[in-house]
Amino acid sequence: MKRIETDFVVVGSGIAGLMTALTLAENGEVTVLTKSRAEAGNSSRAQGGIAAAVGEGDSPSLHREDTLRTGVGLCRRESVDVLVEGGPEAVDRLAQLGTPFDRGEKGWTLGREGSHSVNRILHAAGDATGAAIMGPLLRRIKEHPRIRLVTHTQAVDLVVEDGECLGVLAAGTKGAVLHLARAVVLATGGCGQIYRYTTNDPAVTGDGLAMAWRAGAALADMEFIQFHPTALAVEANPMFLISEAVRGEGALLVNERGEAFMARYHEWRDLAPRDVVSRAIDREMREGRRVFLNATSLGEGFAKRFPTIYRRCREAGIDPACDWIPVTPAAHFVMGGVWTDTYGRTSLSRLFAVGETACTGVHGANRLASNSLLEGAVYARRVAKDAASLPELVRSPSSSRFPALSTDPCNDAAWKEEVRRIMWEHAGIIRNEQGLAHGLRALSALARKIPEPFVECHNMIAVSQMVMESALWRRESRGGHYRSDCPETLVEWENRRRMAQRGRQDE
Ligand code: SIN
Repeated sequence: MKRIETDFVVVGSGIAGLMTALTLAENGEVTVLTKSRAEAGNSSRAQGGIAAAVGEGDSPSLHREDTLRTGVGLCRRESVDVLVEGGPEAVDRLAQLGTPFDRGEKGWTLGREGSHSVNRILHAAGDATGAAIMGPLLRRIKEHPRIRLVTHTQAVDLVVEDGECLGVLAAGTKGAVLHLARAVVLATGGCGQIYRYTTNDPAVTGDGLAMAWRAGAALADMEFIQFHPTALAVEANPMFLISEAVRGEGALLVNERGEAFMARYHEWRDLAPRDVVSRAIDREMREGRRVFLNATSLGEGFAKRFPTIYRRCREAGIDPACDWIPVTPAAHFVMGGVWTDTYGRTSLSRLFAVGETACTGVHGANRLASNSLLEGAVYARRVAKDAASLPELVRSPSSSRFPALSTDPCNDAAWKEEVRRIMWEHAGIIRNEQGLAHGLRALSALARKIPEPFVECHNMIAVSQMVMESALWRRESRGGHYRSDCPETLVEWENRRRMAQRGRQDE
């Protein structure tokens, strides 16, 4: 098998991966592996924006308070401190790198999203913030003399010996390659595609999470999945997101009778935390009432403030200036991931994780809206600085087995669909013991049927099993994890987290 030696390997090309690569390149040669086009993934799809305490009357301590309250007793405080205190500098850096954040007469214009106590969401091109960040970032990566961006290359497995990560096995258009490096950084995003209804890009199949698990790294908080309340209710994969920022501008959720029902569910109404809003919508729908977003109060201004959403709605035959927009919840973000410290160090030496792939504990049981792009930008620099301080790799793996890769597209699609169906039915917005146990049996049966070379399918199944096992373990409801058979939030579960580690069942 071909071997390539480099200083650093980053797997994934979203905001977290690219920002890490840019900083790493100050200290050596970087290879960025990405399994599809560089632009694929969730970062470019982000609409609402990036949260940072830069507005008048705002402060990192207010941002901290909102993040901790939304995380319902499960955030790791030191990780939250790093995030909120690093926010203003991170957005300045993004602006310097070329993000054209929207500005008004008094500086950056700041939007509002659920569970934020003040306006603190920076946005660009109205509702195309992710694309506006990723465009300039990708240009810099492509031009950088020390960064090699390798697209259409699937990272298959980590090579680990004696608890030390030595590199990554990957399969690209030119065959299998073993990339050996001083440090490997997983930045593959989350796992939204394990759910039938999701806003996540088709590339987001939990690969980094599954690779880390197979390699023996610890993962945590996998039961906490965030369902975004308002995907456009038009069947598609991925589903199109109607940003929470639309509610931040005054749009209201209504059921088909025209009732603004959020008043019945939370004092913050339409801007309550996402888990509350998603469950409220789910309940309306289970009781037979369709749900809509009434943004007609924005009138003609809608098209100017939300040009991307406006365009997509018009394609679906909806005019937001006068029609209600049909919406439904969809899987959006995983709060759990590869367990790291505040420098992205995992439980394996030389292996790092950053962005949605990592679980620094910053989101606790529920992520505050627009904290995810921020997490990628803030933590990337810390991860890169720590990784750069590692000594050179002195040994090389004794052997590495590369599984033959082949994908029969028909079977592949059918099996993936089956995983997505099982997860939506049994580990969705509302779970219970019986459903989770049934779902786990169904996943095991499916895993036995699928040949080893179908790596993405196996990754989806491994991650789904972690979600279900963790959801079974947590006998309470908290944030993005709601069990109808244990509906209370219990003090004894506060700050308790389940580690998923191959061969171990400890907390
Ligand atoms: C949104 O625009 O509603 C999504 C933002 C996020 O997920 O943080």
